[in-house]
Parts: sequence; C-alpha cells; structure tokens
Amino acid sequence: MGEMARKISKVDHDELLKILNIAYAEEWLAYYQYWLGAQVALGPHRSNIVDEFMEHAAQELKHAQMLSDRIIELGGVPILSPSKWESVALCHYEEPANPQITELLKQNLISERCAIARYEKICEMTFGKDYETHRISAKILHEELEHEQEISDFQDDIASELEIWCQNDK
Ligand SMILES: [Fe+2]
Ligand SMILES: [Fe+2]
Repeated sequence: MGEMARKISKVDHDELLKILNIAYAEEWLAYYQYWLGAQVALGPHRSNIVDEFMEHAAQELKHAQMLSDRIIELGGVPILSPSKWESVALCHYEEPANPQITELLKQNLISERCAIARYEKICEMTFGKDYETHRISAKILHEELEHEQEISDFQDDIASELEIWCQNDK
C-alpha cells in the first residue's frame, strides 16, 4: 500500500475499492470474451476482425493490470479468484455461443458500452478528489471509446456491403 496514495485520495475508500474491483473483474471477462471470440469467429472480414479482437483483448488485459496496480496502491486486494469475476461484474460476460462475426460484434458492442458507463462513473467519482485514479480511469475510458468506434465501424462496413450485394442481386 502507498501511504500517500491513500492519504491524498479524497474519495470514500471502500466505495472506490469496490468499484475498482468491479471494473477489474469486468476487464478479465472482456479480455476472455475478445480472446475466445477471436478463436471461434466465422463470417465476413474474419481475418481483419480477429486481429482487432486480439488487439482489444490485449488492451483489456492491460486495463486489468492498471486497475490491479491502483487497487494495491490504495491498500486493497484485487479479486483473488476467477470464480468471483462473474458475480462481481455488473457488465455481463457475453458467451460467444453463436460464432457468427455479426453476432460477436453485437455482443462486444454491448460490453464496450457497459465499460464506457463504468469508467464514466469512476471518472465522476474521482474528479478533483483522486487525481491518479481519475487519470487511469480517463485513459481507460478513452480506449473503450475507441473500441466502441472500431466495432461499430466494422458493423457499418458489413451492413453497407450487404446493401450493395442486395441491390446487385435485384
Ligand atoms: Fe477495458
Ligand atoms: Fe474495450
């Protein structure tokens, strides 16, 4: 624990550690969701989208690392057992039972939007009260917004190709 880290954080510690651990659990689930999605994906633009999923997976894992570092610095303990991730997380794990790319994109978009709401909340809680946690959560928020945009761009590309294909078919 960093003595000063805790001292200069003016947010209720229990509340802050609780939400940081929720986010931590969600990052591991997001990591696995992207990683597994990349293994099973089928359908249009598979290779490009799989590369993007693996890139996002690596970033979600990095987010888990950033949160774990901050939780420890604040005197907390990151969730010790993977079996708790799903019960603690408020953004739910979307099981890639249907491997079609369009379905995986939909699921990942739901998860990204949930993550954006989580980091917006942490940013609001820490604004002007805990500069370091605010800096970390704003950085993660920035990357989650990029993820949302990238997923949504793939959806748009597939939708417009489908439209052209349908028009040509008439
Ligand atoms: Fe993330
Ligand atoms: Fe993300």
